[in-house]
Amino acid sequence: MLRPFDMFKDKNRNTRVISIANQKGGVGKTTSTINLGVALAERGKDVLLVDFDPQSNMSIGLGVDVDNIGNRSIYHALFDDKLTLPKVSHKTKIPGLKVAPATLDLTAAEIQLFARENREKTLHDLLKPHKNAYDYVLIDCPPSLGLLTLNALVASDGVIVPLQCAYWAMRGMKQLMDTIDKIKESGMNPNLELIGILLTMYNSRTHHSRQVTERAREAFGDKVFQTVIKETVRFDYATVACESVLTHAKTSEAADAYRAVAKEVENVKNR
Ligand SMILES: Nc1ncnc2c1ncn2[C@@H]1O[C@H](COP(=O)(O)OP(=O)(O)OP(=O)(O)O)[C@@H](O)[C@H]1O
Ligand SMILES: [Mg+2]
Repeated sequence: MLRPFDMFKDKNRNTRVISIANQKGGVGKTTSTINLGVALAERGKDVLLVDFDPQSNMSIGLGVDVDNIGNRSIYHALFDDKLTLPKVSHKTKIPGLKVAPATLDLTAAEIQLFARENREKTLHDLLKPHKNAYDYVLIDCPPSLGLLTLNALVASDGVIVPLQCAYWAMRGMKQLMDTIDKIKESGMNPNLELIGILLTMYNSRTHHSRQVTERAREAFGDKVFQTVIKETVRFDYATVACESVLTHAKTSEAADAYRAVAKEVENVKNR
């Protein structure tokens, strides 16, 4: 389907590859990848979502039947030269949005990658020839700082870090920031940029939600997105329906919040 924006598409696009990363589990990485991806597609962008977590939550959350996709997964593209990124990408119900899904096979990838030369550049090399087909490539990282996350960060122009508004959330942020710095300083990816820290699961009634927000703004200043994602069961309902909140609850506050994040992400680009 041709969208109204398509006729104005710039063929020499300035693709942005963005990792959504935090080694802490359950902080909203997958939710943010899906909903930011859909919000960018709604804005007329061509978006590829790469599921880089063997849990496959993002792929399942977008309706991919991961048990029946054969070798059309990101794992197979990493290890089979004949399988390019477009060959393992699946269309979604959202115009402009594609997904390169993960299967449980990806669990073995860390060990298999370890034996490779340039092991941290495998995803970068896989993406490079096909980047121009998209405005945005968003990579949903697993909850670890292992070789999969390292590959994602080396392949990326920027990182978005979801930070759950809970009392333990700031623990581990230093480790993540140090990892980003090391990747830049080592020359693996000198231009890697922290795009922003996205506060998630904010509950205005709890003291520690407010406290985390304040501490994050003190520590990271304008790197913290203005938009805060509030806690709501809408995300769970959308997950059960294998949909984004933007399609499942189009006019909800939660959907509008991710639309606002998409605007902020676009503005960072134009700064
Ligand atoms: N703003 C929110 N309010 C309430 N629940 C949320 C919110 N964002 C995400 N959730 C729910 O929290 C759970 C964890 O979210 P999600 O899977 O996005 O985290 P994750 O960081 O990707 O987890 P993992 O580290 O396991 O990959 C999911 O059940 C999701 O529906
Ligand atoms: Mg996840």
